[in-house]
This record gives sequence, structure tokens and C-alpha cells, in this order.
Amino acid sequence: MAFPEKFLWGAATAAYQVEGAPRDGGKGESIWDRFSRTPGAIEDASTGDIACDQYHRYREDVALLSELGAQSYRFSVSWPRILPDGKLAAAGPNPAGLDYYSRLIDTLLDNGILPWLTLYHWDLPQSLQDEGGWPSRDTAYRFADYAHIVHDALRDRVHHWTTFNEPWVSAFLGYTAGVHAPGTQSARAGLQAAHHLLLAHGLAVEAITEASPSDSVGITVNNTVAYPRDPSNPDDVAAAASLDAQHNGLFLDPLFRGEYPQTLWDDLTTAGLDTALSDVIRDGDLARISAPIDFLGTNYYTDDLVTAHRPGATIGTVESPGLSPYPAPRRFTVVPRDLPKTEMGWYIHPQGLTDLLVRLHRDYTGPAQTALYVTENGSAFDDHIGPDGTINDPKRVAYLRDHLAAIDQAIASGASVSGYFAWSLLDNFEWSFGYSKRFGLVHVDYATLKRTLKASAEYYREVTRANAIPHRD
Ligand code: FCB
Repeated sequence: MAFPEKFLWGAATAAYQVEGAPRDGGKGESIWDRFSRTPGAIEDASTGDIACDQYHRYREDVALLSELGAQSYRFSVSWPRILPDGKLAAAGPNPAGLDYYSRLIDTLLDNGILPWLTLYHWDLPQSLQDEGGWPSRDTAYRFADYAHIVHDALRDRVHHWTTFNEPWVSAFLGYTAGVHAPGTQSARAGLQAAHHLLLAHGLAVEAITEASPSDSVGITVNNTVAYPRDPSNPDDVAAAASLDAQHNGLFLDPLFRGEYPQTLWDDLTTAGLDTALSDVIRDGDLARISAPIDFLGTNYYTDDLVTAHRPGATIGTVESPGLSPYPAPRRFTVVPRDLPKTEMGWYIHPQGLTDLLVRLHRDYTGPAQTALYVTENGSAFDDHIGPDGTINDPKRVAYLRDHLAAIDQAIASGASVSGYFAWSLLDNFEWSFGYSKRFGLVHVDYATLKRTLKASAEYYREVTRANAIPHRD
């Protein structure tokens, strides 16, 4: 199975997950520096203080990217490295912070690797959180200032800009479920954060496209596919539509259609939360948010089977949603399935990726003529180092192969997909799970920081070289 010519193969990481060096070069505190120190917040009580130490070892990591045949590196910039207090000080941005990314970018370019820069992968400066964080409108304007500064400093060498990684996670895991920084538990705060993240995206797109009209600017969202458990049951179909609106539509509809989905408004109204969202929407916001973008990134790991029946109902076994990240979850319940899972407990369902890409192309990116990339996909498994020091990870190889085949299938069905970034280049700090989950194509020994290519890295190299899925038995 061959991929289209010019299909872009890359690998991804995020600043807080790999950089370490939390105070080097005058970096300020981020909400993840603070949250990871909160007792009970991180499964193994770890922090990102050292992580993979990429801040000091970026040359080695760029060499690994070359070994994998990666054509692009999707990395993120830490806002508090550039603006330690989140805002522009009289002395200007922090030169040491900008210099770090400048050196990383030069090293990538020297190796023929395209820098794909994400401005925000969840590490808000703590001082801006102290002033209200994303539920506060002002944070969107501070982000626009920050975006402008980074763009201005690096635009001579960077031409692919992602404003946000997974705003759903920032808003609803951070401010509603409270399992991510800053740990707030409020449906209202999550909705307000979501709107301000979108507004911040719109403001940054405006700033970047005005200054560099030929640069590519976009956003990465994390999507699911909500399948009704019984497609012939209208209640299950409505339940799936409801989850879809609170996960996908809440971001995609404002971005591509300039409006929040009606299903979302209906659910929020029932939950008494419609004003939480409508109160923060000002005239002109949705026009800003829906300004054309050059690409949409989608991150896909798993999908959901959904029913309208509540836990305790007599039909089948249903899983309790627990503390839901969804602002208005009353109409739907996610159902357990008879599928294999990764170490994250996420069901493995490559068909979901095909269905997702076909749907994104049909409903959003196709009509808008926006390029579509898979900006993350990957799997955590319990890796074992063999006696000879090698790491054979057949489950990760199979996950990769099957998801690449799913993309191939989506392309064959008419979806236009322009590239794929494996999550992740390296094992790293997996947020609230700490170092207990390994997603890397490259193994990291956290005691020595030694990097070792796993079998999946060798497999990925075959893929990137052939621009095709290798034939194996
Ligand atoms: C995504 C995140 C990424 C990583 C993977 C496993 O939601 O963007 O940082 O944690 O999940």
C-alpha cells in the first residue's frame, strides 16, 4: 500500500513532556510545573523536571529523527520559556528561551527536517492562571501577544504553525474533570476556557497570516468517532450525536462554520449551562474563530460506542462516566466493548480512524479546501528490554501498521490526507500518568536518559523510506 506522493512523515513531542530544564535560561513556572507538584495529581508522583532532557539533548534527538527518516518534527514551544510571567516585560522576550528554539530549528534544518511548531501544548504560564487562566478572556489576548513574538522571532525559518494542541483537553480535562492542570472542576469554567482558546486561536491566525501570508497556519484537535450502540435506536443515535457535539463539534463547528452546534446548545440549555457559554461570546468572536486556516490536524487514539441508557438500566452492562469531562453528559453513556486495549486502557479500533478522516474531509476540510493531517497517533504498551538490549514491541508495530492501513483506506475512500506524525518520537512524561506509560518509538531509560530505537522505530523507518506500508507476514 503506497501513500500519495509528497505525503509528509513526521514524529511529535510536546515541550513539557520532553524538555526538562524547568528553570534553565530563566524559564518561568507553568501550570504543569505547579500541577505536577500537587499531591495525588500524577500517578507516579513524578514531574517533568527532567523528562527526556531534550533541552540539553536536542542534537541527539534530531539525529534520531533522521534515523527514523522523519521529514518533519512536530514540537511545541513553552510559553513561559519565552515570557516567564506570560506577558511581555519591558526588557522584551526572554532571549535564552528564543535562543533554545532557534538552535533546535537550525539543527532540524541542517538535517533536512521541516520544523512544525505548536505554540501551545498545555503549559500556560502559572502567573496567567493566577489571573484567571483560560476562563478569563484576557488570556486570549496574552496568547496573541505571545504568538506574535514567537512568530516574529522564528518566521525566517519556520513556515508551519499550529496554534493549539487539543483545546478540548485544555478546557475539559483541565477545567472540568480537573485531571490535568490547573485541576479545576467546573463545567462552566471548561466552557468558558473552550471559547477563549478558540478566540486565542483566531487572534493568532490573524497575526500570523497578516505578517506572513504564505505561511501555513492551523490547529490540532483531538477527535473521536461516536458510534451509536444500536444504530436503529433513535435514542442511541441522539446520544452519539450529543457526545459528538461536545467533543468534536464544539471545536470544529466554530472553526469551520462560525457557530457552535445546535445539539450542544440544546444539551447546555437542559443542563442550565447555556449562559455559561453565551455570556462569554462577544460580537465578532465567531468570525475571528472561523477565519480560514491552511490545515487541520487531528489526533486519533480511540473512539466511543455510545448509548442513551443510563448506568443501572437493565439493558446490557454500561460503564459509569464517573467525573465526566463533558459539560452536559446526561444524555449519553460510553459502553465497554469487546476489543483489545492499549496500556492506557484505550480500545484499539483502526476503523475509527478511517471513519474519522472520511467524515472530517466530507464535513469540514474538503469543503473548506483545508489540508488534513494526522498530527498524533500511537500507543502505549508495556515494553521489555531483551537480554541483548533490544526492545521488541510487536503490539506497537501492529497498532502502527493497522492505523496506517486505516489512513490508506480513508484516502482510497476519497479523503484527502497530507501527512502523519507518530506519537511519539520518545517515551516521555505522559501527563497525569507520569512516566508509567511509554508511547515512544524510541525507548528512554529514565535513570541514564539513554535512547534506544524500538522495533517499532525500525518499522517506521521502513514506512518513511518506502512511503508505503511494508509487506510483512
Ligand atoms: C494526546 C496529547 C499528547 C499525548 C498523547 C498520548 O492527547 O496531545 O501530548 O499525551 O495524547
